[in-house]
Amino acid sequence: MSVLIDREKCIGCGLCVKDCPNACLTMNEGRACVNDGACIQCGHCYAVCPGNAVSMPGLNCTDEPVRAMSELDSDTLLSAMRSRRTIRQFTDQPVEEEKLIKILQAGRYCPTGGNSQTVEFTILGSRQAEAEQICVDLFRTGQKIAAPFAEFLQRINITDHFFFKGAPLVIVVSARSAVDGALASSYMEIMAESLGLGVLYSGFFRSCASFSAKLRKLIHLAPGKQVVTCMVIGYPAVKYQRIAPRKEMQVKVL
Ligand SMILES: Cc1cc2nc3c(=O)[nH]c(=O)nc-3n(C[C@H](O)[C@H](O)[C@H](O)COP(=O)(O)O)c2cc1C
Repeated sequence: MSVLIDREKCIGCGLCVKDCPNACLTMNEGRACVNDGACIQCGHCYAVCPGNAVSMPGLNCTDEPVRAMSELDSDTLLSAMRSRRTIRQFTDQPVEEEKLIKILQAGRYCPTGGNSQTVEFTILGSRQAEAEQICVDLFRTGQKIAAPFAEFLQRINITDHFFFKGAPLVIVVSARSAVDGALASSYMEIMAESLGLGVLYSGFFRSCASFSAKLRKLIHLAPGKQVVTCMVIGYPAVKYQRIAPRKEMQVKVL
């Protein structure tokens, strides 16, 4: 059983039955009952229960109170989201462990399709320089081969820090579903920004991972998972004065 209901504590309100996405709960003699079946362990029954009558063995049920996003000031939030920039210049100040943990927690709590939670976070750590070298070698080789056919490639200077820009922290986000991995990354980016850090998504690293078996081996990419993003993180060595412009919003109202 992935969900247990304490019949002593259950007050028979039915809130868990109503909120279960897969109809795994029913009312029986004034108490909620579990018919496990299609349970995806989303934890809504646990989270919604006013009597704390639900437990989920094997998961960390902390009884931590909720704090709604609506408590945040939406104007401040929107302004901060619009002010966020991709950072490509970093100081060498390391990222504190407590900040790293907050970034990972943000990624962990994002929604995943079917609550699959297959998103994995790989911190390059002691292998960061080695991983960057593999990417640099790959791109330099590619440049030699392709430059005669594409003049702009000749102008790109692939320095030794072309991929990670001297940033102290790199997290590779991999998942079975690209959507899940991308959503987790976005949560993590917002958290990193709120901690005074800057983020670069290295799409170039992602390309390298799809070409290089050596790189996939180095990051221990699990079978069935793909590199969704590579998040290059550190303290920004650049400050922006105004919000960057955007193209016209594309909205359809049908
Ligand atoms: C999936 C993805 C991959 C990206 N890859 C790179 C990259 O390899 N190198 C780079 O300099 N910027 C990369 N970027 C950053 C984009 O160029 C940047 O988001 C865009 O220019 C808009 O700038 P802004 O993020 O400051 O608003 C990437 C962004 C995303 C979302």
